[in-house]
Amino acid sequence: MTKLRIGLFGRGRLGTAIASEAVEAGTKLAWQAGREGIPPAPVDVAIDASAREAVEAHLAWALDTGTDLVIGTTGWSLPELESRVAGRIGVLVAANFSLTVALMARLALVLGRFAALDPARDPYLLEHHHRLKLDAPSGTAKSLAAALMAGCPRKTEWTLGSAEPHQLSLGVLRAGAEFGTHTVGLDAPAEVLELTHRARSRTPFAQGALAAARWLQGRKGLFSMDDLAADLLDPLFTNLNEGGPPARGARSASPLVLPPGASAPSPDAPSLGGKP
Ligand SMILES: NC(=O)c1ccc[n+]([C@@H]2O[C@H](COP(=O)([O-])OP(=O)(O)OC[C@H]3O[C@@H](n4cnc5c(N)ncnc54)[C@H](OP(=O)(O)O)[C@@H]3O)[C@@H](O)[C@H]2O)c1
Repeated sequence: MTKLRIGLFGRGRLGTAIASEAVEAGTKLAWQAGREGIPPAPVDVAIDASAREAVEAHLAWALDTGTDLVIGTTGWSLPELESRVAGRIGVLVAANFSLTVALMARLALVLGRFAALDPARDPYLLEHHHRLKLDAPSGTAKSLAAALMAGCPRKTEWTLGSAEPHQLSLGVLRAGAEFGTHTVGLDAPAEVLELTHRARSRTPFAQGALAAARWLQGRKGLFSMDDLAADLLDPLFTNLNEGGPPARGARSASPLVLPPGASAPSPDAPSLGGKP
C-alpha cells in the first residue's frame, strides 16, 4: 500500500505533535512549513495547524494545486467556504480532532434536549486552555454550545458570563499549560450534572488529524470531524433500552483506521466544525 504523503502547515505545538505522530503512524511527512512560505513538493493531503490569519492563503493554495486540506486551526471565518470548495477538492474542518469530543458533542445535544423539558434545568459550558491560546472561546466550546442549543431551543445564543434567559452562559479560562478542558453542565435546583473532557496531551489531536487526512483523501466537498465519526458513534445511540454492545453492523474498529467510504452525517447531529 502506498504511504499517504502529507504536508503540514504549522510547526508549533500542534504541528510538532502531528509530525511525531506521523512517524509513529508510518505516514510520509513531505514537508512542514512555518510562516516562511509553502514548499513546492506536491502532497496527497495538507494539514493546517498554523494560525487563523494564514488559513485563507492555505485554502487558496489548496484550491490552486488541487490538494485536499484538513484545517485544524481555529478562530477564523471564511465566507462562502462551501461554494468555493464544491466539487474541486476535499476540505475537512475540525475545531477539535478528538473522537471523544465528537462523542461529547452528541451527549451535549441530549443534555440540551433534557434541559429543554424543564426551564429550571439550566445548561452551561466551561472551557480552560493554556495561557498562549489566542482564540476565546475555543472552537470546540463553540461547537459544544451549538450542540447544547440545538437540543434546547430556548437558548438561542451563547454569551460569556452573565446570561439572559435566552442565552447559554459560557465560561472561559486562559491559564497555565492546560491542553484543553471542556465541561458541559446542567444546573437544576436540586442537582447538577457535568460531563468533562480533558486532553492529557496533544496526542489525541495529532492522531485525529492524521485520521482525518486519511479519511479525506479523494473526497470532494466540505466535511467536519463529525462526518468521519458518524459511522462509529451513531450506532452507540440505537437500541438504548436493550442495553448491551453497539447495534449490529456498528463498526468496532478504531475510528483512526476508518476505511474510505465510511461517511454518513447523522440527520439530527448538530453541525460541528465547518463554521469555526
Ligand atoms: N483542531 C484541534 O484539535 C486543535 C488542537 C490544538 C490546537 N488547535 C489549533 O491549532 C492552531 C495552532 O496551535 P498551536 O498551539 O500549534 O500554535 P503555535 O504553537 O503558536 O504554532 C503556530 C504555527 O503557525 C505558524 N504561523 C503563525 N502565523 C503564521 C502566518 N501568518 N502564516 C503562516 N504560518 C503562521 C507559526 O509559524 P513559525 O513556526 O514560523 O512561527 C507556527 O509554526 C491554533 O489555531 C489552535 O487553536 C487545534
